Amino acid sequence: MDFFDAVKNRRSVRKYKAGAKIEKETLVKIAQAGCLAPSARSVNPWKFIILTEKERINGLKKIIGNNGSFLEEASAAIVIICEDTRYYLEDGCAAAENMLLAATALNLSTCWIAGDKKDYCEDVLKYLEVPAGNRLICSIAVGVADEFPVKEKPKAQDVIRWEKY
Ligand SMILES: Cc1cc2nc3c(=O)[nH]c(=O)nc-3n(C[C@H](O)[C@H](O)[C@H](O)COP(=O)(O)O)c2cc1C
Repeated sequence: MDFFDAVKNRRSVRKYKAGAKIEKETLVKIAQAGCLAPSARSVNPWKFIILTEKERINGLKKIIGNNGSFLEEASAAIVIICEDTRYYLEDGCAAAENMLLAATALNLSTCWIAGDKKDYCEDVLKYLEVPAGNRLICSIAVGVADEFPVKEKPKAQDVIRWEKY
């Protein structure tokens, strides 16, 4: 898929075809796109914990609650963890966006699930047996869409300011 089509087609999908399988190879491809993200001073502080077993995904869903209720039907969840570096959040978010677009280009659908700042962060880290000194950036639900949301997006001409605000 062309880059601009992937950007245009990406939508947060919250209904997935239950039972759809995604090859591990495909998930690795998505994770590789995360690894290609920019990172301040090239620290690359991330780890991507990929859950594919239903029981593991549902365990995550239980901890996260309403923010990720749709995880139930997702084929996988990619949890982004970063070492607690100066730019952990920016680095982790850059990796996340790369992965959302990669999944779209592979005709899969995703939804970003908040991590950083949420009161369930510590519980998620504990559930995934993440060592101390790491932060939860977000989780990404990955699946085969069972809905096709349309969303009005801002137009460039409305947000661009040339040369000064
Ligand atoms: C930092 C961040 C946190 C988000 N957290 C959640 C979340 O916890 N649950 C959820 O369903 N969607 C979450 N989203 C998805 C947004 O709701 C979604 O991107 C927004 O509504 C725009 O829709 P679109 O992604 O289809 O363009 C999050 C997105 C971002 C960038």
